[in-house]
Amino acid sequence: MDTESLYKTAKLLMTPGKGILAADQSVSTMNKQLEAIGATPEAETRRLYRQLLFTAPGIEKYVTGIILYDATIRNHTDDGTAFVDHLIAKGVIPIIKVDKSTVPFEGFPGEVVTEGLDGLKERLEEYFKMGARAAKWRAVVNIGDGLPTLDSIKFNCMLLARYARLCQEIGLVPIVEPEVIYEGTHDLARAEEVTTLTLRTLFTVLTQYRVDLKATILKTSMVLSGSKNAKPSTPEEVAEATLQTLDNAVPNSVAGIVFLSGGQTPEQVTANFNAIGKLEKESGGLPWALAFSFSRGIEQPVQEVWKGKSENVSAAQQKLIEVLERNCKADAGQL
Ligand code: 13P
Repeated sequence: MDTESLYKTAKLLMTPGKGILAADQSVSTMNKQLEAIGATPEAETRRLYRQLLFTAPGIEKYVTGIILYDATIRNHTDDGTAFVDHLIAKGVIPIIKVDKSTVPFEGFPGEVVTEGLDGLKERLEEYFKMGARAAKWRAVVNIGDGLPTLDSIKFNCMLLARYARLCQEIGLVPIVEPEVIYEGTHDLARAEEVTTLTLRTLFTVLTQYRVDLKATILKTSMVLSGSKNAKPSTPEEVAEATLQTLDNAVPNSVAGIVFLSGGQTPEQVTANFNAIGKLEKESGGLPWALAFSFSRGIEQPVQEVWKGKSENVSAAQQKLIEVLERNCKADAGQL
């Protein structure tokens, strides 16, 4: 295991003042997003959309890495340059989503398990050869009546551990993403309880299965009351609960922590991220670097400007840069 290279990549990914763009929507998710803006859901539209994102002038000032989907890492710009090569030339680290999404977890009603371990070693080797230097795997934790179960959390964490250790063997920094789902009627205290349990379990299992935490990035949900709870959490409440959870559950040795947007609106997630940045400053610093790694929280406004039309590409790229810049400011609590 080339630990020095892994540490170097992890450090680069967590460069202060920048974030990670998650552009790894699956084909079906991407198609739904295209349909929502009136664009044709087909391969060429998906390619044009990713090209719009990756060629936005100056994007490298705001992102250290971009998470790609399998079909995207194999795709290219209009002039035939592979997207990965284009990103590497800009100093942006290509990251690859390697899980194969979730399926129902038999015996555990309302819970899901992530697939994708079969043949993973060979896939990781191929992605490394293509130029990827980090990978992402998403597990899902639903909150509901009697949910989640500890058994389901543990099982998903074991899959994350197997994936993470394989990544490190091959030279990819694992981004471990146990997403505690925002959708639901749960309150803030329940979100904190579940996120704390999930993260504590995750790090126990990762350590047990010999994953090097210094070469691991955590991608986590912010801690907030559920989307259908009568009392939405204020940004100050989100910041306090999130930092308290991380303090209680994440070992200091972890290379960095990034946040997903998880269905919060772009305005909401940026306001919450800004409050986290402010509280981080007030607390005099944390053991880990924090950054954003939003997909919907960044891309929704871009898609609304683009609408699938070539005449809107430049305006959509400007919108992307504007949203990224706002989130970089929020990272420092400066909004
Ligand atoms: P969202 O920011 O839309 O939650 O996506 C982040 C991600 O990478 C999901 O796996």
